[in-house]
Amino acid sequence: MSLNGKVVLITGAGRGIGLGIAKCFVQQGASVIVTDLDGAMTRAAELELGENAMGLVADAASQEAMRDAVSQLMARYGKLDVLVNNAGIGGPTTQFDEISASDSAFLSMSDAVWDEQLMFNLRTAFSSSNAVVPHLSQGGSIVNIASIAALGPTTSLPAYGAAKAGVVHLTKTLAMELAPRRIRVNCICPGLLWTRAWELLTTQMQANQPELANMSLRQIFETVVAEMTPLGGEQTPEDIGNLAVFYASDKARMITGQVVAVDGGISTK
Ligand SMILES: NC(=O)c1ccc[n+]([C@@H]2O[C@H](COP(=O)([O-])OP(=O)(O)OC[C@H]3O[C@@H](n4cnc5c(N)ncnc54)[C@H](O)[C@@H]3O)[C@@H](O)[C@H]2O)c1
Repeated sequence: MSLNGKVVLITGAGRGIGLGIAKCFVQQGASVIVTDLDGAMTRAAELELGENAMGLVADAASQEAMRDAVSQLMARYGKLDVLVNNAGIGGPTTQFDEISASDSAFLSMSDAVWDEQLMFNLRTAFSSSNAVVPHLSQGGSIVNIASIAALGPTTSLPAYGAAKAGVVHLTKTLAMELAPRRIRVNCICPGLLWTRAWELLTTQMQANQPELANMSLRQIFETVVAEMTPLGGEQTPEDIGNLAVFYASDKARMITGQVVAVDGGISTK
């Protein structure tokens, strides 16, 4: 599935799923622009990905920052074919203690935490798409990264789930908006991946559940995976990247507005 000559922008790609997606695109011959909030991680990702990569520090939730990133990549590559809206925060936010101190994440959630979750997990997709769409090539593609939390309720993550459900809806709206330009918009809902997001979630679980005190964070994660996943294993960033590459390729030329869970069957239960 060669993507030779394609130019791909991936937000939040300094580490985790975004970096894994970037590796998959580079393997298929694409040039990749990785953006992230964190300068050191952005630079490290650029070096790891090699000569076909460019790293830019940019807030995916800022149209202005993303427009600046687009003008920089246009100066180097002259076009943009694919946007992957990956940036997000999966775990607890800066108000970690506030949430973990209560049995109800919903009742203990402040307006500030709600707004923060919506900004990181939904506005990122809106602002980045808004800045990028005018420059996307005809026949290009947008891939949104939502979550299985978008597909059903998770009482511990009410704002995150609502934000990711918004990403699913935005996918369908943009798919209709951009169809006349032959730009396709699709969505991936990842399941359980051992990234920084789950390190934070397992830290929160351990703080709330004394019976987990003697387990490592990784062991807690593996227990969750074993309990939840019909196929019996965690997903990897490359599992997500493989579908992103397919969505972006000509093999998917008649696929738009679609949402696929890469979750080992979790969302089927
Ligand atoms: N890890 C999982 O199990 C899981 C499951 C479902 C969905 N997801 C989603 O996958 C995506 C990637 O998550 P991850 O697990 O790799 O998390 P991660 O925390 O390891 O990586 C997220 C990256 O995004 C960057 N980022 C966050 N906000 C940003 C912004 N406004 N602008 C630019 N960069 C920003 C961070 O600096 C970080 O490098 C997120 O959207 C997350 O919600 C993750």
